[in-house]
Amino acid sequence: MVKAIEWKDGKVIMLDQSKLPVEVVFIDCTNYKIVAEGIKKLWIRGAPAIGIATAMGIALGAQDIAAKNYKEFIKGLEPIFNTLLETRPTAVNIKWAVERIKKLLKEKKGESADRLKELLIEEAKKIHEEDIEVNKAIGRWGAQFIKDGDTILTHCNAGSLATGGYGTATAPMLVAIEQGKRIQVIADETRPVLQGARLTAWELMQAGVPVTLITDNSAGALMKKGEINLAIVGTDRTVRNGDVANKIGTYSVAVLCKEHKIPFYVAAPLSSIDFSITTGDKIPIEERDSHEVTHIFGTCRIAPADVKVRNMAFDVTPAKYITAIITEKGAFRPKDLKKLMKKEINLDGLRL
Ligand code: MRU
Repeated sequence: MVKAIEWKDGKVIMLDQSKLPVEVVFIDCTNYKIVAEGIKKLWIRGAPAIGIATAMGIALGAQDIAAKNYKEFIKGLEPIFNTLLETRPTAVNIKWAVERIKKLLKEKKGESADRLKELLIEEAKKIHEEDIEVNKAIGRWGAQFIKDGDTILTHCNAGSLATGGYGTATAPMLVAIEQGKRIQVIADETRPVLQGARLTAWELMQAGVPVTLITDNSAGALMKKGEINLAIVGTDRTVRNGDVANKIGTYSVAVLCKEHKIPFYVAAPLSSIDFSITTGDKIPIEERDSHEVTHIFGTCRIAPADVKVRNMAFDVTPAKYITAIITEKGAFRPKDLKKLMKKEINLDGLRL
């Protein structure tokens, strides 16, 4: 399984996903500013992966803080937190990672700067390892929705490249295969940055999963022909009422699924659920450079120079289109997320 990110020899090693699948290039990040640049420029992307990158970026930045005591050390972390928080607004995992680290630092109040530096490295590695386990649990809960012979549509990349190393939307597919089910995956190419074509198709082929690439505008026609049995996508932020932000185009897929009575599932680690926001319209949506739309691979222009462009990186799928949200603690109907927040649901084992 390909690893998007790793902490190695005091550095953060990132696979530069912006170059895949043409080139496989790893970048050595030697300071937190390079990590932040990597998140902004999509060398690393996908909500859980950028959460891990944030934790590793903080650990990396912390090593260079010259502080005599706890207070000075915390002060030195502020610009690091802020730089990472400003990279991308939609995926809540960046904020989640910063908050988790702030909580740890509070618990360790009074420790020496040297000890805190060690603890931040340990915590970043722990976040990475936990993510892989979380993904595997999502896979086990999600595989129940896949039958032998199913064809599954996915959008963007919520695979191993977007996470610590197993994927969220792809996890139920991998577990279904382990269970002996024969499945096919259809990957939407996912304009404008082509995460489906460049990343999902690439990583599924590497993992030996049968995958067919389609243009984004083909999904409806295939559904009408009865060639898609279910859809599974990832999420950047899921909110209290069950609305889900994910890669632009996810909403269209969900509406098409409803029209064709095809179940639409969202694989959502708890780290991507934001209970502080009530409804999807309050999720900040990232708007990216027009160049991503007017050019392919940054160099080949495919639109008139100076054409006006709108490049929203994400959209929000209302809860009513979602059959279930698959977390590491079970699969929930979107309306039951509120109960999950209030802990009214036994977290170990709710099934639909
Ligand atoms: O812009 P990207 O490539 O970071 O968008 C990624 C997605 O939309 C993924 O589906 C989402 O982050 C979930 S990844 C498990």
